[in-house]
Amino acid sequence: MTHALEYLATLLHLLGLLLLAGGHFWFALLTAVAERHGDERGERFLATAVPVFANGFGAGILLLFSSGLLKLLLWREPGLIFLPDVYGWVLFGKLVLYMLIVANGVYIERRCLPAVLQAARQAEPLATSSRWQRLKRHARLNLVLVLVVVALGETLRFSKL
Ligand code: HEM
Repeated sequence: MTHALEYLATLLHLLGLLLLAGGHFWFALLTAVAERHGDERGERFLATAVPVFANGFGAGILLLFSSGLLKLLLWREPGLIFLPDVYGWVLFGKLVLYMLIVANGVYIERRCLPAVLQAARQAEPLATSSRWQRLKRHARLNLVLVLVVVALGETLRFSKL
């Protein structure tokens, strides 16, 4: 049973990863295309697509946390995250970056997104809007952080081989 749950945790972890990291790549690609068009259709697309992506990222973040925690609970390690072992410090670093990703995501959702939607309502050209540039900066930061966490996750995985 524990073995089956561990497989389920890994599957859900990778699904969360696809939603979060894959979603960020897809978002970057679509926004680049929409900006290049620079016409009204592109603007409308950006204003409607961004909230949908934000929900997908939120689901990915929750899936990653719950599946990651499930794995740790299944391993019944007394200190939960294996400190002071090197494995524990890598996992600790991963959790700190994870919290940064969540905090930045909340900032995007609470501050950047409403500002962008307001700019769209005021028919401000998004491609040149400082509010849109700010959202993109924070989205790029989260993509970089997610990729670093993926590298730490793989380091953990292969550390046991
Ligand atoms: C942005 C968030 C995260 C990303 C991108 C991420 C990514 C990964 C990746 C790529 C792996 C290796 C593949 C696998 O074994 O599934 C992994 C493993 C793991 N992750 Fe995460 N993860 C994230 C958040 C978390 C969180 C919040 C926790 C704990 C609460 C966690 C706990 C683990 C554990 C325990 C492993 C297994 C490592 C091993 O096999 O020794 N992860 N993660």
